[in-house]
Amino acid sequence: MSNAPIGVFDSGVGGLTVARAIIDQLPNEEIHYLGDTANSPYGPKPLADVRKYALEAIDHLIDSGVKMVVIACNTASSAMLRDARERYSVPIVEVIQPAVRSAIKITSNNKVGVIGTRATVASRAYEDAFAAAPHLELHTKACPRFVEFVENGITTGDEILQVAHEYLEPLKESGIDTLVLGCTHYPYLKGAISYVMGDGVTLVSSDTETANDVYRELVRLGIERTETTPPEHRFEVTGKETKGFSELAGRLIGPSLGKIEVLKN
Ligand code: DGL
Repeated sequence: MSNAPIGVFDSGVGGLTVARAIIDQLPNEEIHYLGDTANSPYGPKPLADVRKYALEAIDHLIDSGVKMVVIACNTASSAMLRDARERYSVPIVEVIQPAVRSAIKITSNNKVGVIGTRATVASRAYEDAFAAAPHLELHTKACPRFVEFVENGITTGDEILQVAHEYLEPLKESGIDTLVLGCTHYPYLKGAISYVMGDGVTLVSSDTETANDVYRELVRLGIERTETTPPEHRFEVTGKETKGFSELAGRLIGPSLGKIEVLKN
């Protein structure tokens, strides 16, 4: 069991930011990544549909024998975290709590912004997660077009900057000093987001904090990989492999990426 891979799942390329952080912190662990590109993007869809897609994706990872599942997608986590914890016996790690913990530590003026997909913002999952810190003033904003850019491999350029200004100016005016990137696609756009928000705002992305949680869970359960052979990661997508996916996956994962397998539905 301990030598089985860690399953990491997202609607597309976003979760690769989390996979990268796990590989950095736990270089001996094997990753089995699944991008549900056939159903991506999740953000504009009703939560009930996202729940169904996400559970199917996780079923696939569990059937393949992973020892842990990382829901590397805020939208999926908003839609089905509780169901996943009830349905599967393997440990489930997700991205919302780690980002929230981090934001609570970082903010000094107690004004925190959260950007995410429409579905994440509508679910109020962040309001629930921040309930333990009622002294914080929370400002949430959906940034739907960001995912579309990233899935197409576009992470810089004038259009992104223009859209970033449109989405983020109201948050900037609210005086927040901390901004949670509440979608795992957004770290690809850190350049534009931090340019618009300015130096006074600290960006929090869940990748490193989530990898810390993965580390803690593996140690707590005594299921770290003990094999000494180099790990062989596996990357799968449910839909046609998009140019954006392979480009960004190559950029982030590097030579250990190997071939991206396309699952036939
Ligand atoms: N990366 C995902 C998230 O963290 C979802 C993006 C999407 O499919 O809309 O919310």
